[in-house]
Amino acid sequence: MKTVLKLSSISKYYPGVIALDQVSMDFSEGEIHSVMGENGAGKSTLIKIISGAIEPSGGMIEIGNEKMKHMTPALARQEGIGVIYQEFNLISSMSVVENIFLGECVGNKIMPDFNEMHHRAKKIFEEFDVDIDTCEMVGNLTPGKQQLVEIAKALSQNVKIMIMDEPTASISVADVKILFNIIRKLKEKKVTVIYISHRMEEVFALSDRVSVLRDGKFIATKDAGEVVRKDLITMMVGRELNESFPDRAIEIGAPVLEVKGLYGNGNLDINLTLHKGEILGIAGLVGAGRTELAKVLYGAVKADKGDIIVKGKKAALRTPRDAINAGIGYIPEDRKNEGVFLEFPIDWNITIMCLPRVSKKTIISEDKIKNITEEFAKRLEIKTPDLKQYVRNLSGGNQQKVVIAKTLAAETDIIIFDEPTRGIDVGAKQEIYYLMNELIMQGVSIIMISSEMEELMGMSDRILVMHEGKLQGELKKEEFTQQYILELASGL
Ligand SMILES: Nc1ncnc2c1ncn2[C@@H]1O[C@H](COP(=O)(O)OP(=O)(O)OP(=O)(O)O)[C@@H](O)[C@H]1O
Ligand SMILES: [Mg+2]
Repeated sequence: MKTVLKLSSISKYYPGVIALDQVSMDFSEGEIHSVMGENGAGKSTLIKIISGAIEPSGGMIEIGNEKMKHMTPALARQEGIGVIYQEFNLISSMSVVENIFLGECVGNKIMPDFNEMHHRAKKIFEEFDVDIDTCEMVGNLTPGKQQLVEIAKALSQNVKIMIMDEPTASISVADVKILFNIIRKLKEKKVTVIYISHRMEEVFALSDRVSVLRDGKFIATKDAGEVVRKDLITMMVGRELNESFPDRAIEIGAPVLEVKGLYGNGNLDINLTLHKGEILGIAGLVGAGRTELAKVLYGAVKADKGDIIVKGKKAALRTPRDAINAGIGYIPEDRKNEGVFLEFPIDWNITIMCLPRVSKKTIISEDKIKNITEEFAKRLEIKTPDLKQYVRNLSGGNQQKVVIAKTLAAETDIIIFDEPTRGIDVGAKQEIYYLMNELIMQGVSIIMISSEMEELMGMSDRILVMHEGKLQGELKKEEFTQQYILELASGL
């Protein structure tokens, strides 16, 4: 097969970190090539080097007949390299068509040809069977649709190598299907797809070849047909990993949280009870109102009516501060926007919700901050040379661990985990399951919202299924089946 892109001995150094260490890899025409590795392994760094967003510290890139020390964004564009980054790059206050042709000149400089733009955008969407109104504001679209706009943007520039960094991390099951169709059509058109995901099933469903990075080093490239899940995991984490869900033996106690007749934002209608020592799973499709419910319980969204009773006492949760004081912590799903302050250090972020623990009157103890931060960095294996590092400089998955640590440090005895393992690598996932069990043993009660059926069924004592803001059913452990949950979630 024809090699379209070749990396030789690519390295990237940051102060105290070797993000990539002499990585060599090649990519063929028309193949779907997945790149896998733990959080912080260097995947995003690698694709930023391919797209010219950052310069490598050493090595060589070959594309077509050209050899170069580093790519530039202009050249990448010229060579047909399109990237969907881990973070969305669209402007939400602009329309779909404006986003797609942003920075491009259609028509002439004074009079952009909007008809032509709409025409071209529609053609791209039609070709890939996607139904999106080109006039719609991007901010009004679901995350899945926003991602399709990002892809359309790349396709409008005659893409030859399409790179996707965790494209399915925050989109619905239905949108994943659409995305996979697009990826397969791209392959038919001989486009090379470089695909990054922590979801093993996706990698096996799509890939022709898989490459693994570990600690910035290249481990191997394999034909997807010749490796099994277990081997791939061993290559990624460097040891064998037991993927079963950990057991916990604890008696489920009295109610700690009761929600009665909760209505909000037009469509919630919720009654539920969480008991001490329980993990209560909440299933539902994207848009079912799960996060909205969590936000009401966390005082971030106001309910229209209904009672929230915490340990027998009616609680008035007007702000997250009220919720924390009442003993309810929330780990948000949208961690970039709601979870962390990217421009502040790790230790600052982790201790911001537990200031009383680290200060006396108004004096903040640096030692206490250090102790708490070190404890969580160790427990969650946050990968960084320095806990004063800005969160922006962490890998995606490690940023998420900071968000989890921040809520845990507040030491509430009810914790709502919203998509706790999204973007988290397979080894760290296990750590989070063990951590949840540890918390339960310490007397914490957990609500777990998750779209990952396996983990929901593997970790929950009970599962509530939501559909359009309402509880559609409640399942006891013996009743857990994926099909039953999905039926309820789709409103059947
Ligand atoms: N600007 C930066 N400054 C300092 N260190 C950085 C910077 N960018 C990345 N790193 C470090 O480089 C390493 C590789 O990060 P990278 O984002 O490539 O990981 P990743 O494989 O994409 O992980 P994830 O699965 O969590 O997204 C990490 O240790 C990260 O902290
Ligand atoms: Mg990444």
